[in-house]
Amino acid sequence: MEGKRVLVTGANSGLGAHFAELLAGNGAEVFVAARRLQALEKVADRIRDAGGIASCLELDVTKPDSRLSAVEAVGSVDVLVNNAGVVTQGSALKQSEADWNRVLDTNLKSMFFMAQAFAPSMKERGGAIVNVASILGLRQAGSVLPYAVSKAGVIQLTKSLALEWARYGIRVNALAPGYIETALNGEFWKTDEGAALVRRIPQRRLGQLSDLDGPMLLLASDASRYMTGAVLAVDGGHLVSSL
Ligand code: NAI
Repeated sequence: MEGKRVLVTGANSGLGAHFAELLAGNGAEVFVAARRLQALEKVADRIRDAGGIASCLELDVTKPDSRLSAVEAVGSVDVLVNNAGVVTQGSALKQSEADWNRVLDTNLKSMFFMAQAFAPSMKERGGAIVNVASILGLRQAGSVLPYAVSKAGVIQLTKSLALEWARYGIRVNALAPGYIETALNGEFWKTDEGAALVRRIPQRRLGQLSDLDGPMLLLASDASRYMTGAVLAVDGGHLVSSL
């Protein structure tokens, strides 16, 4: 990733913070972006302490003005990692319109407009967009309907953009993680419900952040130069679990 400028959204925690550190650790100059500057500073400090290059960017992906300011502040990037996402839990009968809008706006609509905002700068020398989807975009589970719909949309968005932007040398691929253990969901996996979920994964274990390293580096780097419109599942075999 030497010489590449990379922007990671939702980079102040979980997968996004990990991706930022991973890409910086592999030589990229990384812009860590999210709404909370204080949390971002901690991620950027960790990158710099490890000898990497990082800048913080206050960004709300759902706000057009904020996206515009991000483009003005950063200029061109070689790689955009569209990672910011939110989830809501609840039965379909009780789903509120406000939660539906928040999830679809953040996970799907903003992903498209972030790609649209940075694509012009990529057109000159090519680039890569990595959209973080989920296996819930390909299969379904109870109580996460808007999230699953948003991630299914991310997959179709990825394929449609791949088709339109191949002519500009912009590759668009999706990473579809299965259940990954993070600081935010760690406690859940210790419950009976969490343990039951893990038993349904063919590899019988949760994914760890480091399990995403190879796939992310593949999609973000020139190693995937002939890949576009691909959806890479990283899920311990969860998608092929027995019916
Ligand atoms: P997280 O809650 O730790 O990270 C989400 C990030 O998005 C946070 O940094 C948050 O500040 C940011 N964000 C939310 N709304 C934003 C907005 N309007 N503008 C800018 N940033 C915003 O959760 P996690 O688990 O790290 O999720 C990251 C991505 O990975 C999401 O897209 C999620 O759907 C996806 N994913 C996570 C899986 C998991 O098991 N943890 C599995 C499959 C996909």
